[in-house]
Order: sequence, then C-alpha cells, then structure tokens
Amino acid sequence: MTGPRTPRFPRLLVTGGAGFIGSCFVRDRLARRDGTHIAVLDKLTYAGNRANLASAESDPEQAARLEFVQGDIADPTVVAPLVAEADAVVNFAAESHVDRSILDPEAFLRTDVLGVHVLLEACRAEQERAAKGERAAAPRFLQVSTDEVYGSVESGVSHEDDRLEPRSPYSAAKAGGELLVRSYFVTYGLDAVVTRGSNTYGPYHHPEKLIPLFITNAIDDQQLPLYGDGLQRRDWLYVGDHAGAIGHVLAHGRAGETYNIPGGNERANREVVARLLELLGKPWSLVRQVEDRPGHDRRYAMDGSRLAALGWRNGMPFEEGLAATVQWYTHNEAWWRAIKSGEWEDYYRRQYAARLAGSRDAG
Ligand code: NAD
Ligand code: DAU
Repeated sequence: MTGPRTPRFPRLLVTGGAGFIGSCFVRDRLARRDGTHIAVLDKLTYAGNRANLASAESDPEQAARLEFVQGDIADPTVVAPLVAEADAVVNFAAESHVDRSILDPEAFLRTDVLGVHVLLEACRAEQERAAKGERAAAPRFLQVSTDEVYGSVESGVSHEDDRLEPRSPYSAAKAGGELLVRSYFVTYGLDAVVTRGSNTYGPYHHPEKLIPLFITNAIDDQQLPLYGDGLQRRDWLYVGDHAGAIGHVLAHGRAGETYNIPGGNERANREVVARLLELLGKPWSLVRQVEDRPGHDRRYAMDGSRLAALGWRNGMPFEEGLAATVQWYTHNEAWWRAIKSGEWEDYYRRQYAARLAGSRDAG
C-alpha cells in the first residue's frame, strides 16, 4: 500500500484561512493527511470565523498540523516571521463584499492593496535569504484574485491577457493587489502566480452574499432584496472546486502567470433565486425588487482554457452543489444565526432598510 505523496510545499502560510474559501482550502488540505503543516493568519474581521476551522481543530492528527494566528496581513511584524517559516504563501485575505466597498472603501485599500504589498515584501526578504543560502528556496506566492477585475462583460468571455477594467472599489482594490504581484514577478523575479475565480458558493459562505442571504432569509420567511431587474448574470463555482483549482495552480502554475477559474455555470440572478426557492419550498412572493447596486456589473464570464491545459477540471455540477448548499444551511442554523446578529443588524439596516421600504413586487 502506498501513502499520500509528499507535498511540493510541506509548510503553507494561508492568509484569510478563517473565511469562506480560505477555510475550505485549509480543511481540504489537512484532510488529505499528507503531512502538510498550515499556519493560518487571519484578522478575524466580521467575515472571519474560527468556527469554520472547527472540523480540523477537533481532529487530533489535523490539529497537530494547524497553527492559527490572529493578525493583520498589513502588519509587517506579524507577517515576516510567518513567511520565514513557509514554503508557500496563499493569500485569501481580503475585504470581499462589493456592497460594503461601496459603503466604506477604505478598509478595502488597506487589506486588498497594502496588505498584499506587505506579504510581497516579506516574500522578497525570504528570496534574498534563499540567495544567500540561508534557506533552501524562496517561497512561492499565490494571490487569490477575482473575475471582477475584468469589469462587466457584455458578451463573450474574458481571457487572462484582457484589459482590467474594475468598476467597484472592491474590484479596483483587487486589481491593485494583483498588479503589485505581477510587478514583483517582473521586477524582482519573485515566484508568484495569480488566480481569478468566479462567483463562488457553498457551505460556510457569509450570509451577506446573494445565495446564503436569500437561503437564510427565506428559511425565516423574510423578504429577499433582488437588485434592479435581477437579470444580471454570474458564473457559479462550487467552493470545493475553487479551493481545489487554487491548490492545483499552486502546485503546477507557471511563475508570473495568471489563471482564470470559471465555474461553467452562467445564470441570471432571477434563475438562481427561483431554484433556491424551489429547493426550500418557499414562494416567489418573498422576492422584492429593490433599488439597484450603484455601478452594478451586468455580467461576468471567463475563458478557462489556460487552467484546463494545466490539467484542472471542476467536479461539482451546479444543481447538485446548490442542493447541497441549501441542505447545509438548513442543517447549520446555529452557524449563520450567530453571524446574523450584532454588527450584522447595523449593516443590514444600512444596506437594505431604505431599499426594502421602497421595494416593489418582483414580477
Ligand atoms: P471572506 O470575506 O469570506 O473571507 C476573507 C477572510 O480574510 C476573513 O476570514 C477575514 O477575517 C480575513 N481578513 C480580512 N482582512 C484581513 C487582514 N487585513 N488580515 C488578515 N486577514 C484578513 O472572503 P472569501 O469569499 O472567502 O474570499 C477569499 C478570497 O477570494 C478574497 O481574496 C476574494 O477577493 C477572492 N474571491 C472570492 C470570490 C467569491 O465569490 N467569494 C470569488 C473570486 C475571488
Ligand atoms: O465574481 C467574483 C466575486 O463574486 C468575488 O470577487 C466577490 O468577493 C464576491 O462577493 C462575489 O461578488 P458579487 O457582487 O457578484 O456577489 P454577491 O453575492 O454580492 O452578488 C451576486 C449577484 O446578486 C450580484 O449581481 C448582485 C446580486 N444581489 C446581491 C445581494 C447581496 C442582489 O440582487 N441582492 C442582494 O442582496
């Protein structure tokens, strides 16, 4: 019998590893039981949740390979010693919600741009140590970016070399972060790769985002605030596939390259909402048409041939992933009810009170 293969990067630093996609990456990696050690650096903002790592922390073999550090990627004193111990850094840490970036852009610049810079500087210092023979090799850096950097795509699909035309403070900050990564590859020869994932869904998704917000509101027979005509289109990617593709690019991606990670499941928001309500057995009358998101991107769609050429295939069909997600939220009420309290109530009021007051029947 053969055991698991030795990983290419036995010591990983995963920033933002208590968030939605980062925690999936950490859980899946540790569950392989291939000896990988993971240090998670997470600020535990409103979006970070230690409970997302509970399944790994309660398994003694996995817990022994997991270290959790609460801290800010924009703080060099926290970042430097962690990068010094890592063979690779995977940066999930970000402010990630478009609506919050419209309400308060500043935190987005601090984390999604300056935080990336601090991580890159720490990698550069380690690259210099490697050149002096003080460590075996420089760390590899993977920046988790987004399809939103391409802006709204009216027709066709975005390719990796297309112009970046971000249109929200969130996507502008993400574009800034990944352009810095590119500059560190070109200028300093840093071993860096970038992924651009599409709209991700699945368990542990913060209830501020469309799918979990609508599932949890519908469970409570609360109104579902659909922005504008609801005909905006997104390409849905299951969280396990997104995390798996990131791991694949980390292991096999070419330094300096960017890889799109499409879901292959383009749908109008209305279609997704109708299916969620069907799965939950709830009526369409819960849906309210509300004032649109300012600058709302109409559509995202990406070409995935570069990632396919690297040998990656998504595994989760959309129908199955959506049903599994609905089931997860119905079985994990304690998880999302704890999030939908405190800070959440202020945010919900700011984002939705006036919208819902002025809402109309969604047809
Ligand atoms: P999330 O908001 O669920 O998690 C972000 C995590 O980062 C949280 O745990 C938070 O506490 C942590 N964090 C925030 N600021 C930090 C800081 N300054 N220092 C350390 N930790 C900090 O986000 P997500 O949906 O899991 O997204 C993860 C990454 O993937 C982000 O970079 C996002 O831009 C990108 N992305 C997300 C999607 C999506 O659909 N969710 C799609 C493509 C790309
Ligand atoms: O495309 C990748 C991006 O997907 C990631 O980079 C972001 O981090 C992630 O948040 C997501 O951005 P979106 O803005 O596309 O996701 P969100 O779930 O906020 O919205 C999905 C669609 O649903 C979008 O067209 C806006 C709409 N929407 C959203 C909310 C929260 C509504 O109609 N009503 C809502 O209340």
